[in-house]
Amino acid sequence: MDEQGLRGRLTEYSGRIQPSGIRALEFMASRSKDLITFGPGRPDDRCFPVDRIQEAYASIFGTPATAADALQYAPTEGSLALRSWLVRREQALGRRCELDNVLITSGSQQAIHLITRLLAEPGRDILVQAPTYSGALQIFQANGANVRRLDARPDPSSRPAFIYAMADFQNPTGACLTLKDRQALVERARQLDTILVEDNAYETLRFDGDPLPSLMDVDGGSPDDGRTVYLGSFSKCAAPGLRLGWVVGPRALVARLALIKQTEDLQASTLSQNVMAHLADFVFGQHVDALRQSYRMRRDLTLDALEKHVGNKARWERPAGGFFVWLQLAEDIDSTALLSKAIEAGVAYVPGASFFPDGSGSNTLRLSYSTVEPGRLEEGIARLGALL
Ligand SMILES: Cc1ncc(COP(=O)(O)O)c(C=O)c1O
Repeated sequence: MDEQGLRGRLTEYSGRIQPSGIRALEFMASRSKDLITFGPGRPDDRCFPVDRIQEAYASIFGTPATAADALQYAPTEGSLALRSWLVRREQALGRRCELDNVLITSGSQQAIHLITRLLAEPGRDILVQAPTYSGALQIFQANGANVRRLDARPDPSSRPAFIYAMADFQNPTGACLTLKDRQALVERARQLDTILVEDNAYETLRFDGDPLPSLMDVDGGSPDDGRTVYLGSFSKCAAPGLRLGWVVGPRALVARLALIKQTEDLQASTLSQNVMAHLADFVFGQHVDALRQSYRMRRDLTLDALEKHVGNKARWERPAGGFFVWLQLAEDIDSTALLSKAIEAGVAYVPGASFFPDGSGSNTLRLSYSTVEPGRLEEGIARLGALL
């Protein structure tokens, strides 16, 4: 059956799903030789803990009982081993957390989707930072939500379904909220009597300075104390191919999310969860230390190259962690229109407009330094500088 044959058969939901601009960029980039791409927000292939993953698999398949356990169905909420590990981690961070506060998801992308299905009827408002993570915008728009900017004038007649925010090394800007901004955001959620969804996918990748309290910490400190739902991901610190993320939140809400998850995929992969339970201590210890060094070096090379080759042709801030630098160009430069020329010139980025709910931001762009070979970073930025 071709596209024509599908006409009149599809749900409204499927019709609202917009293809991801970043995936389209990956396609263009794959056809271009000698391209230096600052496009995808992926971890570096060379940073995967391959040996440890191999050891975990060997151990799991080393006895019939552990092999059977990994190949069997597991509870929707997640395997006991991995949830217990997360509970211990939360407790070590000083939060009162029990198994009922934790749900393992198939990546944090699924967690954003589950929360949207749980809380946002079509037509309801969701408040977001502008710019924000384009993968979340795709979900909100597919579900028919009204996506509104947190910095826009509030609509007093509306109680939003939730606020979606990143406090650390935000995708796409790399920025962190100040303590005052965190307090203001929690206060805003309280005033609006709405849920606060804190997406902290890059939490472990801090290069400079001390961590600030998470939104959950500001909002009472423990998952049952406040209105914050915390989303974590194993993708950036371990490997996205395992497809694992987690939710920590009020137990009543987590139980509802689990019910929705059951209708979607029953559970996250048992095998991935058991592998992750083996790896977790190593990943969140030695491995993230090595990751921080590697990504910090790339961040520094990128910033030096920007000073040297872009200078006053753009403005940017120094990210304290994560994968991204955000560029503000002159008002009259449209980064979407410029992209094909950039690819011809051998450099790719993600146009900033894809991160705004209202189509603004045409003179902005996101650079991700995470996958560019360190020896090629300066050349890539030099190509961009020449183009600007
Ligand atoms: C801010 C943010 N949230 C969530 C995700 C989804 O991550 P995953 O589903 O791999 O855990 C990403 C991926 O890039 C992201 O940048």
